[in-house]
Amino acid sequence: MLLEVRDLHVEFRTRDGVAKAVNGVTYSVDAGETLAVLGESGSGKSVTAQAVMGILDTPPGKITGGEILFQGKDLLTFKEEERRKVRGARMAMIFQDALSSLNPVLSVGDQLGEMFTVHRGLSRKDARAKAIELMDRVRIPAAAQRVRDYPHQFSGGMRQRIMIAMALALEPALIIADEPTTALDVTVQAQVMDLLAELRRELDMGLILITHDLGVVADVADRIAVMYAGRIVESAPVHDIYKAPAHPYTKGLLESIPRLDQKGRELYAIKGLPPNLMNIPPGCAFNPRCPMARDICRTDVPPLYEVDSEDGVRTSACHFWRETLDA
Ligand SMILES: Nc1ncnc2c1ncn2[C@@H]1O[C@H](COP(=O)(O)OP(=O)(O)OP(=O)(O)O)[C@@H](O)[C@H]1O
Ligand code: SF4
Ligand SMILES: [Mg+2]
Repeated sequence: MLLEVRDLHVEFRTRDGVAKAVNGVTYSVDAGETLAVLGESGSGKSVTAQAVMGILDTPPGKITGGEILFQGKDLLTFKEEERRKVRGARMAMIFQDALSSLNPVLSVGDQLGEMFTVHRGLSRKDARAKAIELMDRVRIPAAAQRVRDYPHQFSGGMRQRIMIAMALALEPALIIADEPTTALDVTVQAQVMDLLAELRRELDMGLILITHDLGVVADVADRIAVMYAGRIVESAPVHDIYKAPAHPYTKGLLESIPRLDQKGRELYAIKGLPPNLMNIPPGCAFNPRCPMARDICRTDVPPLYEVDSEDGVRTSACHFWRETLDA
C-alpha cells in the first residue's frame, strides 16, 4: 500500500476551546489508485491532508494520535528534515487557489525550473528545458513562448495546469489535490479533472482528490471516503456507493446532486448544520440530522462495520447500515 492513514486524530487548541477536527480517520491509497474524499465544509478533509503532507498549522493544530504510513514508514516518526525531503519529491499537493500558491514575481518557467535546480541539481538551461517539457505535458499551448510569462498572465484554468505541473515536476508517488477545480468554471473544471486523471494513469501515481462535488467523482475515482465531523463514515468502491449507499449521510449527499433528468425536482439538502467540533454530539455524530436515528444512535458511537461488496473493502459507521443499504 502506498499510503495508509490509521486512526488519525488532530485537535486545534484555541482560546475558545479544543476543536476536534479529525477523530480517528483511517484510509488508504494504492499506487495507480484515485481516492475521492467527500464531505461538507469543516468535516476535516483538508486538515487530514495537511497532516499527511506535514504542513499542519502547528500550533494551534496538533496530531494527538494515529499513524501515517507512507511507502511502509510512519511519517509521524520522521524528523522535520526527512519530512521535507518526502514533500515535493515523493508526495505533492495541489491547492484550490493557484494564484496565491504561485509566486507572482517569478516567471512560471523560473518557478518550474527551480524544482530541478534545487532538488535535482540541474543547470539553469536544462531546468528551463524541463519546465517547457512539463508545460507541454499539462497541455499549455505554446509552452516554449509562454515559459517567460508570469502567473497573472495566465487564465485560471491554465494557472491550475501550472500548479499541476509544479506538483508533477519531481514525479511524486502520491498527489493530494484539495478542491483543485473549485475556483474554475464548469467546462474548465472538467478539462483539468480529465488531465489529472490521465496523468495519474500515465505516471501510476496515487491520487487523493478532495472535493464537495459528487458529480465529478463518479468519472475519476476508484474509491470514495465520506467524511463527517472528522471521521470516515463510509468508505467503498465508487460503483458500490452509487448503486446503494450504506450510510444515511452518504445517501443525503447523493440525493443533493442536481439531476438533469429530473428537472424541477426539489433539491434534497441534508437538513441542519454540521456539529460544533468543540462539542460533538455523543453517540453517532450525525444523529441530530439523521432521518433514521434511534435511541442507540444517541449513546453508542458506531464502529466501522464491514459491508458486503463485490469490488473490494467497504465500511460504514452506521448501526443501521443494512437497512440503509436496502432502503
Ligand atoms: N488553522 C486552524 N485553526 C483553528 N482551527 C482550524 C484550523 N484549520 C482547521 N481548523 C478546524 O478544523 C475543522 C476542519 O477543517 P478542514 O479545513 O479540514 O475542513 P474541510 O473538510 O477541508 O472543509 P472545506 O470543505 O470547507 O474545505 C474546521 O472546521 C476548524 O474547526
Ligand atoms: S448510526 Fe444512527 S444516527 Fe448515525 S447514521 Fe446510522 S442511523 Fe443515523
Ligand atoms: Mg478544505
